[in-house]
Amino acid sequence: ASQEFTGNLKHEVEKLFAESLRLTVPDGTSVDTEVAASLPGKPGDYQCNNAMGLWSLIKGKGTQFRGPPAVGQAISKNLPASEMVETCSVAGPGFVNLVLSSKWMAKSIEKMLVEGIDTWAPTLPVKRAVVDFSSPNIAKEMHVGHLRSTIIGDTLARMLEFSKVEVLRRNHVGDWGTQFGMLIEYLFEKFPDTESVTETAIGDLQSFYKQSKTKFDNDTDFKEKAQKAVVRLQGGDPIYRKAWAKICEISRTEFAKVYQRLKVELEEKGESFYNPYIANVIGELDSKGLIEESEGARVIFLEGFNIPLMVVKSDGGFNYASTDLTALWYRLNEEKAEWIVYVTDVGQQQHFNMFFKAARKAGWLPESDKTYPRVDHVGFGLVLGDDGKRFRTRSSDVVRLVDLLDEAKTRSKTALIERGKDKEWTAEELDQTAEAVGYGAVKYADLKNNRLTNYTFNFDQMLSDKGNTAVYLLYAHARICSIIRKSGKDIDELKKTEKLALDHPEERALGLHLLRFAETVEEACSNLLPNVLCHYLYDLSERYTSFYSIHQVIGSKEEASRLLLCEATAVVMRKCFHLLGITPVYKI
Ligand code: ARG
Repeated sequence: ASQEFTGNLKHEVEKLFAESLRLTVPDGTSVDTEVAASLPGKPGDYQCNNAMGLWSLIKGKGTQFRGPPAVGQAISKNLPASEMVETCSVAGPGFVNLVLSSKWMAKSIEKMLVEGIDTWAPTLPVKRAVVDFSSPNIAKEMHVGHLRSTIIGDTLARMLEFSKVEVLRRNHVGDWGTQFGMLIEYLFEKFPDTESVTETAIGDLQSFYKQSKTKFDNDTDFKEKAQKAVVRLQGGDPIYRKAWAKICEISRTEFAKVYQRLKVELEEKGESFYNPYIANVIGELDSKGLIEESEGARVIFLEGFNIPLMVVKSDGGFNYASTDLTALWYRLNEEKAEWIVYVTDVGQQQHFNMFFKAARKAGWLPESDKTYPRVDHVGFGLVLGDDGKRFRTRSSDVVRLVDLLDEAKTRSKTALIERGKDKEWTAEELDQTAEAVGYGAVKYADLKNNRLTNYTFNFDQMLSDKGNTAVYLLYAHARICSIIRKSGKDIDELKKTEKLALDHPEERALGLHLLRFAETVEEACSNLLPNVLCHYLYDLSERYTSFYSIHQVIGSKEEASRLLLCEATAVVMRKCFHLLGITPVYKI
């Protein structure tokens, strides 16, 4: 039978084995297909590991089989005829090894080249998701933790979008709460004419915050005024509202500079957005009997936690948890999101676990955590400096994110000039490449490790052109592009007229890796692990190197086929860069 490749190779192989198992298994026995990609150096490309388990289910029940190898033989024999399969054989105690047809592999890659990489997008069981990321706090510092959240969240959003999920990219900024009383009162004091306050007049909002905090801590009159200001702000007093809006606006302009540099899109729906809904949502939880009185506050007791979740403070005010419960309610009911993903440092894990649990208790979410509607907290570790402590810069105790990105760009520009690129390229090309490499390096260094581990911020390491770095990968891609250019062939013409062959082991290994792109993205999405994609990308460039170091491309008799293989590699690499939020470069 002709087997159309729908993008996910592992799923295609699973379908074949599922059919074979249906024929092999006696009536009334049900088994899940156990299919895995074979490790390099093993006889097959994929293996089915069902024989042993199936044997223990059916032995002693009058089966005609004599042990697991015989069950394996039957699985292999019952495999439906398919264009995909070259051979299927049984090894050891019943491992069924499937070797894919190189012809079919080549044809599937040719088809992608013509129809585009989007035909290899995975399909996920959700239509709409919320990714809640970045989410700095107004007037406070936007620190490296927020940078991590921005980078990781953007990648997850990109991967989901590629998988045809509609993503609501939400910036849950901290724009509400008691600190605004003090900020507003301080603003009134310093600038009695609030209307005309400009960004430049306030200057650095962070030091403005610090000054007002000092006053709040030391001046009881001011403290009292600030507390009253909170009440007036929350009561909707227009003068207070205006001052609040002013402060938010100034902060927003600062944040926007970082997003612009990183080319990250986000829609702000801050904590204040949910404020009008909180009372009703807490009312609903109360009517379900979830809320209890405790030491003047109102709380939800949750099994498995030694402290309750506070949802109304003893002064009657709402807090981070009540806002998050309300935002969750809104996202599920008003926005109809089926998957809600929160990206913050692991330090907030308990907060998320607790309000997720409260939402399950309220019946908003299913009991089991991988069923939809689904919520996930995507936690990440700290960014460390070379001294192993929290990352800081020399000049101040906070890291200005914009400076950090500028420095990455400047350093990569210097490296390009050292290689003489300022003489070969226009100033614009030099600048664009420096930016792509510099920002790409910062992003990739963050994404390549498992997000839960802490990582050390080190410019020299991330900007090195050797090892698993963005620089190395971007250059590898540019080199492939330059081979294609140097051939003088029109690659779009070749796609239509020429055939791809995967006759040599290195060509085949590269082709197989290309075909595993979709299943990799799917895994990275379902486990919310961008490092899985980074790992794939690095492997891809290694396989390409093994191919290219042995096989001549330009001028060989396989030139056309090999150019197509180069192009397919470049296409997949570019899609990986895109998903990681990195701008590819075409020349080095
Ligand atoms: N503003 C918070 C912080 O800076 C992060 C908010 C994360 N999102 C959420 N829905 N709680 O720590």
